Amino acid sequence: MVSVLVVFVVSLVWIFSVSNDVVATQIYTIDVVNEYHHDPGAFSQGLIYAGNDTLYESTGLYKKSSVRKVHLQTGKIEVFHKMGDSWFGEGMTLLGDRLFQVTWLNKKGYIYDQNNLSQIGSFQHQMKDGWGLATDGKVLFGSDGTSSLYAINPVNFEVIKRVTVKYEDREVHYLNELEYINGEVWANVWVTDCIARISPKDGRVLSWVFLPQLRQHLLTSGHTKIDVLNGIAWDEENKRIFVTGKLWPKLYEIKLRPITEQLNKNTMDMCSPPKIIHRM
Ligand SMILES: *[C@@H]1O[C@H](CO)[C@@H](O)[C@H](O)[C@H]1NC(C)=O
Ligand SMILES: *[C@@H]1O[C@H](CO)[C@@H](O)[C@H](O)[C@H]1NC(C)=O
Repeated sequence: MVSVLVVFVVSLVWIFSVSNDVVATQIYTIDVVNEYHHDPGAFSQGLIYAGNDTLYESTGLYKKSSVRKVHLQTGKIEVFHKMGDSWFGEGMTLLGDRLFQVTWLNKKGYIYDQNNLSQIGSFQHQMKDGWGLATDGKVLFGSDGTSSLYAINPVNFEVIKRVTVKYEDREVHYLNELEYINGEVWANVWVTDCIARISPKDGRVLSWVFLPQLRQHLLTSGHTKIDVLNGIAWDEENKRIFVTGKLWPKLYEIKLRPITEQLNKNTMDMCSPPKIIHRM
């Protein structure tokens, strides 16, 4: 009798903890609050909101890579720095009054003056590649297209910590543009319409933001040349979230709305595609 009871209690505890794990990952959909003009020639790789309706953006593609200071409401480029033709701009973040930017297929990054975007320095980092950058005001967070999230010393660029980003037991590969928001690191996952909200402490995906409608709406309204969702910016003062994509004609202010359904396997595959070993 006692053993039957023990088995019963143990199973209850097991069921309870399993179902707890399942519902632990919240899923959000979004509502568009505002939309703004975005340069459809900007292959967005880094996006930052710096107050006073000012955005900074880093763009990629050889011969077209740049760093820009952009006015939010109009999309007007106020300051433009063209990178050398052989450089492919990637993620960027603002720490103090300096912009830090990484580059694709390279371990070299650049530092710019935030006012006139003149290049004031460069650095070498220890990630496998340069994809995304963000900051909590103390350290840099970096991604390199793998499932690794790095914390990097902004003075000597040494890796302080590396965590593997996982959703439940599954590694989330292709972490791309990053933003630090309220203790979490938000990451675009390359080639998906999903943003992973990650705990930088242990790499756990705390929740997903699922936003396929933005790209789909642009495609159905005739913008057939657009590339993937990429670029997250956070206005800490006014609690506004901005997103855009590579070659998108629009930048959106969005609000999150929790959805109650669990993430089924298809959605999970959509947000966290398996790693392709040999890709071009
Ligand atoms: C805010 O931006 C405007 C131009 O868009 C500029 O004239 C003004 O000086 C800026 N204010 C601050 C506090 O940076
Ligand atoms: C850019 O601004 C900094 C000060 O913020 C100044 O030292 C530097 O000379 C400026 N560079 C150019 C090219 O105007």
